[in-house]
Amino acid sequence: MGEGSRNVFWQVGSVSREDREARRGHRGCVLWFTGLSASGKSTLASHVEQRLFDEGYFTYMLDGDNVRHGLCTDLGFSHEDRTENIRRVGEVAKLFAEAGAIVATAFISPYRADRDHVRDLMSRDGDFVEVFVSCPLEVCEHRDPKGLYERARAGEIRDFTGIDAPYELPEAAELVVETQDREISECVDQIIAYLRQHGYIEAAVSRASSLS
Ligand code: ADX
Repeated sequence: MGEGSRNVFWQVGSVSREDREARRGHRGCVLWFTGLSASGKSTLASHVEQRLFDEGYFTYMLDGDNVRHGLCTDLGFSHEDRTENIRRVGEVAKLFAEAGAIVATAFISPYRADRDHVRDLMSRDGDFVEVFVSCPLEVCEHRDPKGLYERARAGEIRDFTGIDAPYELPEAAELVVETQDREISECVDQIIAYLRQHGYIEAAVSRASSLS
């Protein structure tokens, strides 16, 4: 138990997760995108969110670059700080899932133990869908949309994932999405198909029409 939770008691609200999900007509969950910088996590997460939102689902997105401007502004990129980053984000993602949202998160989350910690944090089986965004380092480095790989190679940025900090490959991700040489829409289709097949969303696109 952390220092902050000593002598603090859990308060149970009267509106349950089931109540919230019944009102929305679908379950909450966390789609946890993990992979190297520039592998396509944020792009895929935002496209998947858009697709689900357009179909009428209650969605939310948490992105590494954005969260580090607020909730995690005090954290850097040491192993310890990344673990704390992922712990906080995991807790926030859990709250959104319990509020009934389909949450898409985009964090490198390079350490397996940190990702597994978030998986274990979830209150219900199936809440955590690990999506490994797989792309060779050379391709990510070639894309280098923010010029960070170049700066890491030049020694201007330390502890850069894939260069001088590790990325531990997922061993049991629910989904592996290869982004090299594939259209974004094809990758999004793969993820949406998984969600349909596993009952996270309806088998057919029917919600959007009921909204208009
Ligand atoms: S994580 O490792 O803690 O999960 P997170 O996803 O929040 O990382 O942030 C990664 C983003 O921070 C990258 O997309 C990149 O833009 C930026 N960044 C800055 N420094 C580093 C670094 N040393 N290693 C990786 N990403 C970095």
